[in-house]
Amino acid sequence: MTHIHITAWVIGIILFLVTYSMLKSENPKAKMLHMITRLFYLLIFLTGGMLITDFGVYAVKMIVGIIVIAAMEMVLVRTKKGKGTSAMWILFIVAFIFVLYLGFSLPQGFDFF
Ligand code: HEM
Repeated sequence: MTHIHITAWVIGIILFLVTYSMLKSENPKAKMLHMITRLFYLLIFLTGGMLITDFGVYAVKMIVGIIVIAAMEMVLVRTKKGKGTSAMWILFIVAFIFVLYLGFSLPQGFDFF
């Protein structure tokens, strides 16, 4: 199950980056890619949710994971609207590093930390 969760967020982040560059270059297919990226948000959330065995232990992991997803969506929407995205990129990077640390130090799956 951790492998499905990892696959979901790796693909989700690649799609997020592709959608971002398509929005930047005003590619008309960006809208479609954005929809697929959103589908992956759901998959990340569902596969992560299935890994929760103890809410006390995993609540922080879940909240930070949701912040990563929210930051990705804010970057995309603000890029589309032509607004500044630096604050959202910082939020995305900080939350992403934190969630990787949490995921890999929590009991299941790989334990790098
Ligand atoms: C983009 C967002 C996310 C990223 C990058 C991410 C990353 C990770 C990583 C690296 C792991 C460790 C896998 C392993 O040890 O093999 C993991 C595990 C886990 N994730 Fe996520 N995650 C995200 C979103 C979420 C969300 C939204 C939830 C909750 C709904 C969640 C719940 C969990 C749980 C419960 C585990 C198991 C932790 C363990 O005991 O090892 N994740 N995640």
